[in-house]
Amino acid sequence: MTARVLLAGATGVIGRALVPLLRARGHQVTALVREPSRAAGVELDDIVVADALDAGAVRAAVASARPEVVVHQLSALRGPAAEGLAHTARLRTEGTAHLIAAAEAAGAERIVAQSIAFATAPRGGPVLTEDAPLHLDAPDPGWALTTRAVAELERRVLGAARLTGVVLRYRNSFAVLRPSGRW
Ligand SMILES: NC(=O)c1ccc[n+]([C@@H]2O[C@H](COP(=O)([O-])OP(=O)(O)OC[C@H]3O[C@@H](n4cnc5c(N)ncnc54)[C@H](OP(=O)(O)O)[C@@H]3O)[C@@H](O)[C@H]2O)c1
Repeated sequence: MTARVLLAGATGVIGRALVPLLRARGHQVTALVREPSRAAGVELDDIVVADALDAGAVRAAVASARPEVVVHQLSALRGPAAEGLAHTARLRTEGTAHLIAAAEAAGAERIVAQSIAFATAPRGGPVLTEDAPLHLDAPDPGWALTTRAVAELERRVLGAARLTGVVLRYRNSFAVLRPSGRW
């Protein structure tokens, strides 16, 4: 089955690799970008423009793309470290909220978002399940900001009222979280 996919973060490391994989499977991929020139060299079906932190712009952009599936691959870790952490935390909290609201308003069915496998608390054995808690009480303030933002992203995506939410915790391997708690 193929779908109309809206990919937020299509110009990033993961996004650029993901676009050709989705299109090779027949999906129609629209990129949500904040600056269209950044998508040069990425073969897309369409582009819509919005800053992910601007709720109104995201809503209008997602509405025009009419996606069935929204994929969230946003982060801002390429710039100066402190600014990048704060911006990325906002993308995971406010940006996620804007994408969910826009996706629901546009009648999308599913949202797939990116989390972090190594954001889990340093507890338990070497093999963790998708229920492993995140390191919310991390002593490093920057890491605590990150893990709390990731936790909010997961909570919002898995708790979306009118979307099926899927969270992928990435590292070298990944775990899939579903609201049912099953794989
Ligand atoms: N790469 C990894 O090894 C890895 C590992 C674990 C988890 N992750 C997670 O995977 C996700 C994607 O990571 P990545 O490495 O692909 O990140 P990346 O290369 O930094 O790409 C981030 C994407 O987000 C976009 N973006 C940033 N701020 C935006 C804004 N305000 N409005 C709209 N778009 C904005 C960027 O657009 P511009 O091109 O305009 O900057 C870019 O397309 C993140 O959630 C990250 O934490 C990555």
